[in-house]
Amino acid sequence: MDLRGKSAIVTGGGQGIGAAIAKKLGSLGANVAIIDYDRDTEAKALVADLVTMGVQGLAIKADVSSFADAQAAILTVLQTFGDLHILVCNAGINRDGVIWKMTEDQWDKVIDVNLKGCFNYARAAAPVFRKQAYGKIINITSINGLRGRFGQSNYTASKGGIIAFTKTLARELGNKNINVNAVAPGLIETHMVAQMPEAARQTSLREIVMGRLGQPEDIANAVAFFASDLSRHITGQVLNVDGGQLIA
Ligand code: CAA
Repeated sequence: MDLRGKSAIVTGGGQGIGAAIAKKLGSLGANVAIIDYDRDTEAKALVADLVTMGVQGLAIKADVSSFADAQAAILTVLQTFGDLHILVCNAGINRDGVIWKMTEDQWDKVIDVNLKGCFNYARAAAPVFRKQAYGKIINITSINGLRGRFGQSNYTASKGGIIAFTKTLARELGNKNINVNAVAPGLIETHMVAQMPEAARQTSLREIVMGRLGQPEDIANAVAFFASDLSRHITGQVLNVDGGQLIA
């Protein structure tokens, strides 16, 4: 896979899966802009890593739930890199709780970051991609967006929404040579999973047929495939990267 000469944005790129994606795209030759809200130190360290790899890095502090922030971020990337080819909408949070206890704030926060965040960046990038008749949009969903999960009505609604959104964008943008796909992680060794109640984590672990937790790099590898032209005839698809945790 070769991404030399390409420019990418990774939302939520400061840590975990997003940071692994940023590094992977950089290692393949892409310039990478990291959008993050609260991981300034990590994002700056990542930019230094990217520069060491011989590509450009850029850290932008922005709230993905703000459309104004998204528009400003895309403009900054275009001014800095000169172009944009790859958009990875990865930023995601969870605020788990059963429906009879979930607050309006828990619901709104998760939908705003996870689902609206994808809209904001796709909406801001689409005119750029359409004009140049080239673009790759990769949205990070979750296997829980496909099957539902006890205690995650807000999160699964956002992730299921991302899947429908991905399919619609694929239909709308395909005739301009823009691929839109989603990657659905299962249980991956991240901060989010570390915070799960131990019993729930053990139950989830037992579901994984490969018998091990996934690593952020496993997701990054799938994203790199969708970001590259090896996947040029694939669009509107969801690829589960879950060690067989969900085999439908
Ligand atoms: N299945 C069935 N019933 C369950 C259950 C489950 N998995 N978990 C809890 N319950 C039941 C309890 O037995 C209890 O029943 P009663 O009221 O009859 O006693 C009721 O539900 C409430 O349980 P709690 O008192 O424990 O409720 P809580 O509000 O304190 O917490 C919870 C519930 C939010 C679900 C909590 O257990 C939790 O956080 N679970 C983990 C959720 C999870 O899996 N998150 C995944 C994060 S990782 C991720 O999302 C990444 C990815 O994309 C794959």
